[in-house]
Amino acid sequence: MNARIIADSVYCIHADIETGDLFEGIWPIPNGVSLNCYLIKGEKTVLVDLFRDWTDASQQVETALASAGVYFSQIDYLILNHLEPDHTGWLREFRELNPKARILSTARGINLVKSFYKIEDGLEAVKDGDTLDIGGRTLTFYEIPNVHWPETMAVWDAASGALFPCDAFGSFGALGDRVFDDEFNEKEHAFYEAESLRYYANIVSSFSIFVERAIQKLAALPIACVAPSHGIVWRKDPQRIIGRYGAYAAYAKGPAEKEIAVIWGSMYGNTKTGLDAVIRGIEKEGVPYTTRRVPDENVSWVLADAYRCSGLVLAMPTYEYAMFPPMAYVLDIFRRKHIHGKKVLRIGSWGWAGGAKKEYEQAIESLKWTSVESLEWAGRPTEDELKLLEARGAELARAVISGEQ
Ligand code: FEO
Repeated sequence: MNARIIADSVYCIHADIETGDLFEGIWPIPNGVSLNCYLIKGEKTVLVDLFRDWTDASQQVETALASAGVYFSQIDYLILNHLEPDHTGWLREFRELNPKARILSTARGINLVKSFYKIEDGLEAVKDGDTLDIGGRTLTFYEIPNVHWPETMAVWDAASGALFPCDAFGSFGALGDRVFDDEFNEKEHAFYEAESLRYYANIVSSFSIFVERAIQKLAALPIACVAPSHGIVWRKDPQRIIGRYGAYAAYAKGPAEKEIAVIWGSMYGNTKTGLDAVIRGIEKEGVPYTTRRVPDENVSWVLADAYRCSGLVLAMPTYEYAMFPPMAYVLDIFRRKHIHGKKVLRIGSWGWAGGAKKEYEQAIESLKWTSVESLEWAGRPTEDELKLLEARGAELARAVISGEQ
């Protein structure tokens, strides 16, 4: 693919990664992901962020750079906003091709260049508010720590109004030949919105307080274009993705969309029978819901649904005196990703004995959830139990609508 012009002398250079590999070794990317770099030409030539040589990324980036008349060996400054290897994995190869380029990052970033990649020469630490005059334009650095790693910063090009914030405002989903927000129709935007939420929930959600700080810090800039390191480049409506990320960050506090994520597993259908009654109750109250079965559906989508919704139904059988193991894994991920402040109904069947309750309560101890009274039953639910389950589903739905904590 060719470089795409963002503004005079500013280009988006991206590689689409389409692979069965998992992002971060955990998260499926069936729709691919883009690794975006940015070329800025002044009297000096700058590349903002690098890439991991994943599939054929180095060839894709080399081709795009060449379309803008630049080779890796001609880069004067390589700016590394964030050292996670999806943006830096090719650093040693870059250094071999270009021993003279100055590599700029925050002090923490420079430490990672040394420790991760064993590169010691040509490094320069920058700090918040520092500028780089590249002849004809000046770039400014803003530290935005923990969006996504502690060393992260953003670059601002005042001449074009382009902000390069690395992972912030990013998304899963390959791009193809189009990169700008005004090149996608609303149906495509809906797809990328779902992928940006999944990306946020999977990768960034633990750092939401830092996302809010970064948005506040960068709000004073007259941003004409948001150019993240993954996904769409926002030149027509940059506030659309900024607003979306603001909403995602706010979900971390608890109240989110007035919807319910139903997450369930069932061994022989008894928990599913009870769940169907709960869903009837939710439907009677008219609250939107999604369903994800575990372990059939990957935790990546389970996490995205749970992050977006104010309410959760967790339906699982007892398994060997404890929680259904796939649900135990989901709850461990929820704890690690700080899925706080939800309204939750837990239900499930048991065979010869219960036992999920104790392990469940330990698992959610840190999550600050509000619980609708749980219901467990032996084997197939009775008619009375089904009525009770329907009532509990309706109770959860009303709690979600009320929005009260
Ligand atoms: Fe896209 Fe945190 O790296």
